[in-house]
Amino acid sequence: MTAQNSLTVIILAAGQGTRMRSALPKVLHHIAGEPMITHVLRTAESLGTKDIYIVASPTNAAMIEKHTAPYTTLIQEEALGTGHAVKIASVVISKATGTVLVLYGDGPLYTSETLQDFITAFEENTDAGLGFLGMNPDDPTGYGRMQTDKEGYVTRIIEEKEASDGEKKIDLCWTGVMCAYAPPLVEWLANINNDNNKGEYYLTDLPEIALNDHFSTMTSLCPMDETLGANTRAELAELEAKMQDKLRAKAMKNGATLIDPNTVYLCEDTEIGKDVIIEPNVFFGTGVKIGDNCHIKAFSHIEGATLETGVVVGPFARLRPGTVLKDNVKIGNFVEVKNTTFGKGAKANHLTYVGDADVGAESNIGAGTITCNYDGKNKHKTTIGEGVFVGSNSTLIAPITLEDGAYIGAGSTLSKNVASGALAVARSRAIIKDGWATRKKK
Ligand code: UD1
Ligand code: CA
Repeated sequence: MTAQNSLTVIILAAGQGTRMRSALPKVLHHIAGEPMITHVLRTAESLGTKDIYIVASPTNAAMIEKHTAPYTTLIQEEALGTGHAVKIASVVISKATGTVLVLYGDGPLYTSETLQDFITAFEENTDAGLGFLGMNPDDPTGYGRMQTDKEGYVTRIIEEKEASDGEKKIDLCWTGVMCAYAPPLVEWLANINNDNNKGEYYLTDLPEIALNDHFSTMTSLCPMDETLGANTRAELAELEAKMQDKLRAKAMKNGATLIDPNTVYLCEDTEIGKDVIIEPNVFFGTGVKIGDNCHIKAFSHIEGATLETGVVVGPFARLRPGTVLKDNVKIGNFVEVKNTTFGKGAKANHLTYVGDADVGAESNIGAGTITCNYDGKNKHKTTIGEGVFVGSNSTLIAPITLEDGAYIGAGSTLSKNVASGALAVARSRAIIKDGWATRKKK
């Protein structure tokens, strides 16, 4: 168990990822709203360690570090192979006394349970100095094939480029996840050479090296779904689909109804309460919390927003970061809200922009209202008290305060504060001339 044995995690992320055809390092491509490496980091942390190191390349390290700080990044000057990449971490491995776990930065789907079970099985197997997490893919092409002896110990891992036709038929493959007993590992890594068809330092040379050192190599099997990595954008989309299925299943298990789950997009950090109904075609960005009994109607886009209990949103609503909707708030169609708190029971039901504002409880914002928060240079605040009525098509020029119970006539363009209980009407008076149109026609 990790509680007894200290765990050091090495995350490999120095590969060029050329097949993504991107200026962005591969591990920074997003699934479920965050970089792949962030998912890997979270899973690593869930194993109860803070000894996490990232191996990056000189060209991608600066960008990756922004997402992996405060963990240390080690630089692999040249991508000479996975064995060489882990060897770069020798500086930290040489100080470790427990288990070293190697993960790939582009393999974000491993669950904490799978990795913990693997580590536990490895640590309980006192003969083993190495553990290679295995899988049985439908098509093993491209993967390292694991040769095992009668007892199930791994004797060799054969890379695709080195495999004979017979060896290519082996269907037990290596996922890329490895663990090792730290003390002898540094020396084993030093013994890997690049005398092979790819001219690379293969991490998969380790089983034979450990065997010579009288240690064996164990393996356990991983569910295929978790082993997927992304080398191309198409594979990235496959990972996204798998992750979305997982997140949707979790939301439903926790008591939300997703009328058409396949059209609801969630983030890893989306929190959804009980008896929430989510209609089709809803997108959640990062930082969303949905309380119990909320109803999110179709085609809404929600990010960085907190919805308390019984809130109704949409259809076609856009909630941007900094939105807080207290109990029983209603935000209707074609309403955009940004950096604004709506107090209990407040409503903005149609065609409205509310930004940088505070809306008091039970206030009603009429159709077509706009908080003019931006003067071309600075953002200003709109403060609306409790029980305020803002008539349709009002333009509120911030900074502005409408005190409790104020009443704004429809079509007003207001730049002055309105006192509690006052009426404000700011529009040109209508001029009506009886019979004028009829006379003009004649
Ligand atoms: C590797 C394994 C293969 C396994 C497969 C599972 C080796 C030799 N082969 O092959 O047995 O079945 O993963 O996906 O290990 N990386 C570096 N520095 C390098 C090279 C790679 O950091 O110099 C990183 C990459 O960024 C990537 C990971 O290591 O995250 C794997 O490298 P990759 O070249 O994709 O290995 P595979 O050919 O897939
Ligand atoms: Ca790969």
